[in-house]
Amino acid sequence: MEARPVRDTQAALIRWMSIIDANSAGFVHGGIVMKLCDEAAGIAAVKHCRTRIVTAAIDRMTFRYPVHVGELLACRASVNAVWRTSMEVGVRVEAENPRTGEVRHTSTAYLTMVAVDDEGRPTEVPPLLTESPDEGRRMREAELRRNNRLAEREQIRAGRAAGT
Ligand SMILES: CC(C)(COP(=O)(O)OP(=O)(O)OC[C@H]1O[C@@H](n2cnc3c(N)ncnc32)[C@H](O)[C@@H]1OP(=O)(O)O)[C@@H](O)C(=O)NCCC(=O)NCCS
Repeated sequence: MEARPVRDTQAALIRWMSIIDANSAGFVHGGIVMKLCDEAAGIAAVKHCRTRIVTAAIDRMTFRYPVHVGELLACRASVNAVWRTSMEVGVRVEAENPRTGEVRHTSTAYLTMVAVDDEGRPTEVPPLLTESPDEGRRMREAELRRNNRLAEREQIRAGRAAGT
């Protein structure tokens, strides 16, 4: 399979936050932000592999600042790294006050998406081509997160097998 560049995976979803997106404190509900991140990540992943994809995991999600009703929420996603059938997609979330133009970086998320065939079986994804130092850094950091995840899973398995 031919490698595809990171730039071809870029996806953006922008939504105007309304009262139905709010939680009981009056801020935008974190679940709304997560859903939009999942959608943006899905678009980035499908643009890379051009097959069906599923979300295997939301590996990390930070909430740095609250988002307010009336703000524009932008989720920008691109594929950071690919393995055999899975991909890590990074999503940067920004909230913009449309009256003042002030923009805040409110969340970052990393999701693992898996390419599947029509029967839902994992299927191989094309290699990913990085073209800038930032893209190279994101790929290295994605490898580190994956290695940490796998090491953690192994330690938990070993601990359970040992009855600790
Ligand atoms: C994701 C899914 C396809 C993996 O199937 P599976 O039978 O475990 O397949 P495999 O063990 O061969 O794993 C396939 C890939 O998924 C990755 N994977 C599986 N579970 C994972 C998890 N919890 N976290 C991160 N990656 C995971 C594996 O590392 C592997 O990656 P690689 O091929 O790049 O090395 C399957 O668990 C599934 O369909 N889950 C439900 C997905 C879903 O409904 N999502 C919500 C709506 S889209």
